[in-house]
Parts: sequence; structure tokens; C-alpha cells
Amino acid sequence: MKRGEKVVLGIIGLMAIAAVVQNQLFSRPTTGPAADKGIPFYTTASPELARHGSDLVRENDCRQCHSLWSVRNIMQSVPSPSLDGMGDLRTEAWLYAYLSSPAPQSILPSRLKPEYRMPSFASLPEEERRTLAKYLASLHVKDWYLEETRKSEYEKLTGKDDYKK
Ligand code: HEC
Repeated sequence: MKRGEKVVLGIIGLMAIAAVVQNQLFSRPTTGPAADKGIPFYTTASPELARHGSDLVRENDCRQCHSLWSVRNIMQSVPSPSLDGMGDLRTEAWLYAYLSSPAPQSILPSRLKPEYRMPSFASLPEEERRTLAKYLASLHVKDWYLEETRKSEYEKLTGKDDYKK
């Protein structure tokens, strides 16, 4: 075998190994409940609201503390609630009032140290607070995920596996 041929074979071999490893690491389950259900989070926002809302989330560094679309700043470890599915937890009016409050902890008390607490966004222009509230209210989770979360919370809290809808 010529030297050039050995190099080519070597490269093909490495690519094959890489493909196998990648498959192991990134393949999604092909059977079981997670297989066809996909990502449990979705938004009902118009493309325009989604764009404007995401811009505001980025500009205001919300991901420094919260995850959204399962993504957050991994350097931070603030134990804040996830923003995914927020629209199933709070109404747009509640979210607007919360973001507009000079003291968010008067609405939602916090056990965290002051530096980790939800900052006030009362100084943002009203239009931006409205957009953020509308965008957050458009974030939902699929029913099956909510049920699975409730079920696992129930089992954690009670130690029983007889959860009923
Ligand atoms: C410094 C960390 C931090 C930043 C930055 C931050 N938050 Fe928060 N947020 C929190 C914490 C912690 C809570 C839980 C309440 C508390 O401890 O004050 C919270 C609570 C919330 C809640 C209420 C959740 C519930 O249970 O109803 C919403 C909505 C929210 N934040 C949205 C945002 C948005 C939108 C931004 C960006 C504009 C943002 N937060 C930026 C830390 C943060």
C-alpha cells in the first residue's frame, strides 16, 4: 500500500469512529415516551412578537438567571424559575404588573440573597414591558409534559406512585 493510500484509509477510519461516537452521544431515543413527543415548549406568539420579545430578553440579560428554550448562561447558578411555559403559570396582566413593580418581591416573596433576586424592570419603557409580558404569556408547555412534571412532583412529595390526573 502506498503512503497516500494509508493516509486516506486512516482518515476514513477516523470518520467512521467519529460517526459512531456522535450517534451514541446525540441520538434521540427511537422508542418510549420521549421519542415522538419532541420538545415540550412552544410559543403562540406571532413571528414579529417572538422576534421583539427575544430581543428584549437578550438585551436585558434575562438568561443570566433564567432559562428560556432550555438555554441559560451556564456560568450563573441562580436558582430562578425557568421562563419556559410561563404562560401556563401566569397571565399577561400579572406578568406586566410584576415586571413594572419597583419591588417585585412585594408581589412574589423571595428567599434568595438580594443579589440573586428578580431585579425591577420598572424603568424600562412601558412599550417594552408590555411586549415582554405578552411574549412571556405566549410561552406554553405541552399537556403531557405538565402531567409528567406533576406526576414526578407528586411522587417526590408523597413517595407514592399512585398519581391520578
Ligand atoms: C439577577 C437574576 C435575574 C435576572 C437578571 C432576571 N430575573 Fe426574573 N427572577 C429571578 C428570580 C430569582 C426570580 C424568583 C423570585 C425572586 O427570587 O425574586 C425571578 C422571577 C421571575 C418571574 C416570575 C416567575 C414566577 O414564578 O411567576 C418572571 C416572569 C421573571 N423573573 C422574568 C424575568 C425577565 C423577563 C427577565 C429579563 C427582563 C428577568 N426575569 C431577569 C432572577 C432574575
